[in-house]
Amino acid sequence: MAELLNQLANGLPRRRFDAVIVGAGGSGMRCSLQLAEAGYNVAVLSKVFPTRSHTVAAQGGIGASLGNMSEDNWYWHMFDTVKGSDYLGDQDAIEYMCKMAPQVVYELEHFGMPFDRNADGTIYQRPFGGHTANFGEKPVQRACAAADRTGHALLHTLYQRNVRARTQFFVEWMALDLIRDAEGAVVGVVALEMETGEVMVLESKVTVLATGGAGRIWAASTNAFINTGDGMGMAARAGLPLEDMEFWQFHPTGVAGAGVLITEGVRGEGGILLNKDGERFMERYAPTLKDLAPRDFISRSMDQEIKEGRGCGPNGDYVLLKLDHLGADKIIKKLPSIREIAIKFANVDPIRDPIPVVPTIHYQMGGIPTNIHGQVVAPHNGNHNAVVEGLYAIGECACVSVHGANRLGTNSLLDLLVFGRAAGNHIVDAKFKDQGHRSLPAQSGDASLSRLARLEGSRSGENTQEVADGIRKSMQAHCGVFRTGELLSEGVKQIMTLSERAANVHMNDKSKVFNTARVEALELDNLVETAKATIVSAEARKESRGAHAHRDFPNRDDANWIKHSLYFSEGNRLDYKAVSMKPLTVETFEPKARTF
Ligand code: FUM
Repeated sequence: MAELLNQLANGLPRRRFDAVIVGAGGSGMRCSLQLAEAGYNVAVLSKVFPTRSHTVAAQGGIGASLGNMSEDNWYWHMFDTVKGSDYLGDQDAIEYMCKMAPQVVYELEHFGMPFDRNADGTIYQRPFGGHTANFGEKPVQRACAAADRTGHALLHTLYQRNVRARTQFFVEWMALDLIRDAEGAVVGVVALEMETGEVMVLESKVTVLATGGAGRIWAASTNAFINTGDGMGMAARAGLPLEDMEFWQFHPTGVAGAGVLITEGVRGEGGILLNKDGERFMERYAPTLKDLAPRDFISRSMDQEIKEGRGCGPNGDYVLLKLDHLGADKIIKKLPSIREIAIKFANVDPIRDPIPVVPTIHYQMGGIPTNIHGQVVAPHNGNHNAVVEGLYAIGECACVSVHGANRLGTNSLLDLLVFGRAAGNHIVDAKFKDQGHRSLPAQSGDASLSRLARLEGSRSGENTQEVADGIRKSMQAHCGVFRTGELLSEGVKQIMTLSERAANVHMNDKSKVFNTARVEALELDNLVETAKATIVSAEARKESRGAHAHRDFPNRDDANWIKHSLYFSEGNRLDYKAVSMKPLTVETFEPKARTF
């Protein structure tokens, strides 16, 4: 406390960089690589060691139409992604991503990424949900895989390239707030060294948010504990909007009761979902793609099976993922981590027995609005896409929007590679390095320091984990696979009450013993911003589209709702902006009924 007051009085220590990147997952490190190789003085901040960022948990593959297994092309990939997005994705951004996909995969290959190989030496590709040949005719093998550890291999490859390029990593540092000057330009961040509690201003000519998602606002999640929506919280506190936050993906196959991810690659390799009668129920819901329909479709079908009494186990609350028919050799070679996860978390060996699975929160389609260069955009003087100077966002914390209302599996790793690289290139082309630093506003760190002082100063108040658990419980109960008006309005009330309680959190003497308690209390502010944005945006959308399935409005309403929502924290206000239906070079894919 005394040290904080001292810092308030004397100003914070400062360091200067050409670029500061917050987050060392796939998008952050793909961007930093581009910058460091162009001679930028780059600082990358990460709450964990870079190779432990959440990208490490991505299992199944990277979507790219290499055509190594059978004919494929970027236009089919684009069609699948637009249709998968339930026509809410921006078609110019989707075209760009699908066209760039083979190039970013080949770059990774040349960086040394240990992809699985076919007999002819080409990269092995497996089928994934919603990826098809010839505009939905049949499944296609498009996911470029390194066994079931693709994200792990990707992070190690990028980390090593960054070390070679002399990127500077600030490991176990947490960014607290953006610093904006009087013109609204971002001129750096305030950050905390987690071990020592030291607070510092990192001045930068350009700042990139690459903080990943916020899956920890839910009780059952495939996400790591670090996924607390830090970038979204920082953006919201800086007055910036959050886009399409009502769209959250439930991955069909989280281990029942544990939440750990079982990759869609299992179904790509031939695994199937069964109900308690041993029926392969997806044949009824999606006759063409069956177990490889998109995730929103499969999660709803599973939920339906369970609600109609065909779930498995003593409480009938999960279905089974069967893969023993693939044979021990294939499971050990192509799905080794899945076997390990099933043994450790479900107590079954999938070589013999099926894995109990339930839809589990996995990915946010929304985030900080950006254009295809990764520049953050916000409404200004009637322009909904005015660039926020000096600020970029990439990866899961950003909304470009290439995933719309529902992301296709493997398009997340693709998104972070394509847009991490694009942001890096745009920064280099804009010659930020050759510009001077903009002036830091006076009292740049005061907002962060007062947050810290509030936490550490008060001697009574709320407990961090009780409030955080309240958020997770409420989001799970009120904003699930299927939503209703009644559930959502009650959810809004509960989250607003929890938000008031969060403002009164304190660290008691016992929690001060551990420096993690300070970090968890700071993360709570970010959980609150993300949960508010999600529940308010969901309550307002009166239709069903992609991952937003509303029982009171069961149909998609293209006449009124092909639009992106923009949530502003101040006043819990919503605005809307147009979806970009015009691709860069091809014709628009007009909205059609989604059948599979
Ligand atoms: O199922 C999976 O392997 C997850 C991949 C993804 O979310 O893209």
